Amino acid sequence: MAFSNKNFPTLKNDRLIRAALGKEVDKVPVWVMRQAGRYLPEFQAVRAQHDFFTVCQTPELACEVTLQPLRRYEHLDASIIFSDILVIPQALGMTVEMHPGLGPVFPKPLQDPSELDELKENGAISRLDYVGKAITLTRHRLEGKVPLIGFTGAPFTLMGYMVEGGGSKTMSKTKEWLEKYPKDVHRLLSLLTKVIIDYLVMQVESGAQLLQVFESSADHLTREQFIEVSSPYLKDIRNGVQKKLEEKKLEQVPMTIFAKGGGHSLDVQAKLGYETIGLDWTVDPIEARKIVGTNITLQGNLDPQDLYKTPEEIRRLTIDMVKKFGKHRYIANLGHGITPQTPLESMTAFTEAVHEAI
Ligand code: CP3
Repeated sequence: MAFSNKNFPTLKNDRLIRAALGKEVDKVPVWVMRQAGRYLPEFQAVRAQHDFFTVCQTPELACEVTLQPLRRYEHLDASIIFSDILVIPQALGMTVEMHPGLGPVFPKPLQDPSELDELKENGAISRLDYVGKAITLTRHRLEGKVPLIGFTGAPFTLMGYMVEGGGSKTMSKTKEWLEKYPKDVHRLLSLLTKVIIDYLVMQVESGAQLLQVFESSADHLTREQFIEVSSPYLKDIRNGVQKKLEEKKLEQVPMTIFAKGGGHSLDVQAKLGYETIGLDWTVDPIEARKIVGTNITLQGNLDPQDLYKTPEEIRRLTIDMVKKFGKHRYIANLGHGITPQTPLESMTAFTEAVHEAI
């Protein structure tokens, strides 16, 4: 049965949206990056039957795994659509494979700037139609329980994967591009920015209620590089989404920027127009608040490795963290994605402790 992107069930738990907009909340909202993932046996069971990108591309499957953590953990205040940041390079015509244990692999990465002309920008958004369908289906199946987050990779992070051909410890090829081909780098980042804006607007049109932009590779950049190859595009994305939603007479949605390792440039991030800034665990909550001021929501930032401690220890660390951030303009999360071996009861301890902290 086809579901329509109209007449969605009424949202019952709006803590996440309220916190993102700076409104008062009864409890601190909590969700977890990669909450639908390999630490869940029910996710493993789906993955045993289906290839990673088949799950992404099949709305019924993507919806099912999006809902899995919500069935198990009653304290979660948000869902995030199951997909991957690398669906954009795929939509531009690149092949991306997910190798268990290794992560994403591009058999043919971008080798030099002449290959930029081969990227298929035309029709990219319609090739991502399955994400919109998964979002619409999930909004209905959520029955208004919690909001649904849409997301994208940021231009620099996507460029890194496209040039390196997968994850990289050094980003040496990407850094060589920054040095040797600054104009082509700008051309690639601008192309990605255009596609990302349309992709995010399509997600809102399909039912996404908040958007998060992942600049996961910011940890490879100096502050100066961040200002050069990341922040201008992040700003264009924020402004571009707002403008296109206005033109299409769609409701505005709050947006989050999560630049992992971006602690060196929180002041820069605070000027990009995002309602929320995500923090990794290396950033001190009190210092971050001083830098960004009081008009921005902060999200984060427990070290995912802390979830390997005892439930009592997790509760203590979580309550300490929540107290440092405070109840206003705060969304609790980890400082990066939950890792595959995390014990199931750690998520219970973490999410419960957030709601009980203040
Ligand atoms: O958060 C969620 O629950 C939604 C789903 C989600 C996935 N990837 C599913 C996934 C989200 C939001 C992402 C984003 C993503 N993907 C990022 C940004 C966030 C971050 O971690 O910094 C990045 C860099 C990627 C690219 C990517 N995808 C990598 C590097 C890997 C391999 C590492 C790993 O954890 O395995 C993936 C694979 C991936 N994406 C998995 C999941 C659940 C595991 C793969 C599997 O099931 O076999």
